[in-house]
Amino acid sequence: MTTTVIAIDGYASTGKSTLSKQLAQHLGYTYMDTGYMFRAIGHFALQHNLVDKGVIDVAELEKALPGLQFSWKEGKEGQRQMAMNDSVYGEELRTSEISNLVSMVATIPAVRTHLLRQQRNLSKATSVVMDGRDIGTVVFPNAAHKFFLNAEPEIRAKRRYAEMQAKGIPASFEEVLANVIERDRMDSTRTIAPLAKAEDAIEIDTSTMDVKAVFQLLCDHIEGRVL
Ligand code: DC
Repeated sequence: MTTTVIAIDGYASTGKSTLSKQLAQHLGYTYMDTGYMFRAIGHFALQHNLVDKGVIDVAELEKALPGLQFSWKEGKEGQRQMAMNDSVYGEELRTSEISNLVSMVATIPAVRTHLLRQQRNLSKATSVVMDGRDIGTVVFPNAAHKFFLNAEPEIRAKRRYAEMQAKGIPASFEEVLANVIERDRMDSTRTIAPLAKAEDAIEIDTSTMDVKAVFQLLCDHIEGRVL
């Protein structure tokens, strides 16, 4: 079966996940959240006491990686949901503790190699809208369409803070802003697969655009209304 990949890369809290979900639904594709995979591994490390004072026991985590397998599971409404070893995770991957840990998880070469393989495998089963940092540059350099989303850090922190408040996740605005800035720094300066715009990706600054406007722009590009 031939499947299609649409890559949506960019900075944290630029609306990537909301837009990728909407786009997947619009096109009849599956939404694939690659950040979830890094977060699930961070969650595993915490649960198995592989993190001591913010430092990950990389050697032990590497040993565990072959046992961490991702697959598609059918949700209640027949939608595909991503599972790690048959468990589908939710808000427990969005805590400040995991958000602070995950950029470090994402710098571990063995984790990236393991997830790269899993990401390519999962997309053999279904066409996907893949949300991440290195999809257009490393995972699928030949993706059918590539987008790179950006926005001012304060605006991204405001969006994330409002989202966390709505979900009842405790955090202060200052903490959220600091986390956004630190994650930008770690994501774009790591040696392997750093956050970067692919040369042929379309860059969209969402600072002054609402979700509807960005969605429209993405559809216009994909459906050939903008060249
Ligand atoms: O999109 P997110 O905030 O859930 O991503 C969590 C972390 O994982 C973030 O710090 C960057 C990293 N990540 C990555 O390095 N490569 C990806 N393809 C997706 C996420």
